Parts: sequence; C-alpha cells; structure tokens
Amino acid sequence: MKKQTFIAWITAGLLLAFSFNSALAAGGATPPPKLKWSFHGPFGTFDRAQMKRGWQVYKEVCAGCHSLHQIYYRNLQDIGFSAGEVKKIAAEDEVAAGPNEDGETHDGGELLVRPGKPFDKLIKPFANDAAARAANNGALPPDLSLTSKAHATGVDYIAAVLTGYKDPPSGFKMNEGMAYNTYFAGNQIAMPAPLSADAVEYADGTKATVEQMALDVSTFLAWAAEPEMEERKRLGIKVILFLIVLTALLYALKRRIWAKVH
Ligand code: HEC
Repeated sequence: MKKQTFIAWITAGLLLAFSFNSALAAGGATPPPKLKWSFHGPFGTFDRAQMKRGWQVYKEVCAGCHSLHQIYYRNLQDIGFSAGEVKKIAAEDEVAAGPNEDGETHDGGELLVRPGKPFDKLIKPFANDAAARAANNGALPPDLSLTSKAHATGVDYIAAVLTGYKDPPSGFKMNEGMAYNTYFAGNQIAMPAPLSADAVEYADGTKATVEQMALDVSTFLAWAAEPEMEERKRLGIKVILFLIVLTALLYALKRRIWAKVH
C-alpha cells in the first residue's frame, strides 16, 4: 500500500469513529458531571452518616418504586445501624409469611405476612414486573442494586439523573407522561422527578436540599451495589504490604547466597 493511501485510510477511519461518537452523544444524554466521592480511590471509604441519610431517602422516596434485591436488612449494620436498630427497621416491613400449618400462603385472597427479620431481603414495592409497569405508565423502575455499576459513569450518573430535571427546550417533542432530563438517554424519562426540597426530614438535622439528597442516596446505592468494597480494598492493601515484605526478604536472601559465591 502506498504511504498516501495508508494515511487516507487511517484518516477516514478516525473520522468515522469520531462521527459515531458524536452520533451517540447527540442521540441522548449529556455525560454526567464527575463528582468527588469519599469512597473513590484505593483508600476511599464510605461516609457512614451520609449512607444513613441515603438509606432514609431510599426508604422514604425511592423504595415506593425501586427494589434493591441484593440487600438484606442485616446488611444495614454495615452502614452504621446497631443490631437492635436493624431489627426494628426490618419489623416495620411486612414480608410473605410462607405457608401456615395448613399449607396455605393466602387467607381469603390476602397474602399471609409477618414482620420482617434481619435475615430477610428488603421488601419489593411490586409483586412483579407487570404490576410495576402498570403503576408507572408502562415503564419498569429498574432494581437499583447494580445501577451504579451498570453505567460506565457509575454513581455520577445516578446523582446526575436525580438532579437533571428541567423544562424541555422549545421545540423538543415530549411524549405523554414523560419528564425532560438532561442526563437520561433520549432526554425523556418515565420517572417523575422523585426529589423536591425537604422531601425527607433528616434524622441528623442535615438540610434536605435536592442536591444533598441526591448525593446521599447515590452514596447509599453505590454501597448497595458493592457492600464488600471496603473489605476488598483493605485486603488489597494487606496483599501489597505482604508483597513488599516478601520482596525485601527475598532480596536479603539473594544477597546472602551470592555473598558466599563471590
Ligand atoms: C414513582 C415511581 C418512582 C420513584 C418514586 C423513583 N423512581 Fe426512579 N425510576 C422510575 C421509573 C419508572 C424509571 C424508568 C424510567 C424510564 O425507563 O424512562 C426510573 C429510573 C431511574 C433511574 C435510571 C436507571 C437507569 O438505569 O438508567 C435511576 C438512577 C433512578 N430511577 C433512581 C431513583 C432514585 C434514587 C429514586 C429515589 C430518590 C427514585 N428513582 C424514585 C420510577 C421511580
């Protein structure tokens, strides 16, 4: 291949790649702003107070539509609740009781329930996807367990969507029952803006602005996607320390062995 032809092919390829990229961006959403999170980086940890606030937002606002199927009530001890508090939190929810002595799961059409226990999974807002869609204009509120990992932009994406509601620009064609959102693909989302100022009254007295609640619940959801993150980082640091010590020992050994040879 001639040099010129080669350069022409490369240029064409690059142009094509760039135009795909901008086509994707035009098809939807502004990339979410990159925020600073206490839990990023090799030594990052979750802020317990923030996670408790995030749990409060999840429970009081999001849990009406979104499940969090990976999390058990007992996991809430990781975010700073005592065993007693977790018991109380669980007992406030009603879970399916399972069959009674007569093997029945329902009584007159009503599901038999009992208060939740720490070993139960968090309750789900809807019995199934069909019921969830029926209540949400046909759209399915996704389980939020892995949302922060499902998107390349992770936890930034959740915070951005929660604060990305705006009036649509003039001329933008909105579909029935949708809301305009800067950061959601296609700029139309079936979730009505879930947060408004003072939607919750924080137990720790923090002022519940939309931004504050968005950061808190995003942090909580990042934890829920990866409850073992801190443990994994601690283990990583131990492994590195171990390797440093091992290297030093091997080096010392090598010097001793070779000292005899020389
Ligand atoms: C009234 C029901 C409702 C409530 C309350 C609600 N959501 Fe949603 N949410 C939805 C629906 C429905 C969708 C799907 C939107 C779509 O597909 O257009 C959604 C989508 C989302 C998405 C986008 C998911 C993705 O993968 O792109 C995020 C993030 C989200 N919700 C987070 C939250 C958080 C956090 C809260 C609580 C502060 C919350 N939602 C409260 C119904 C709700």
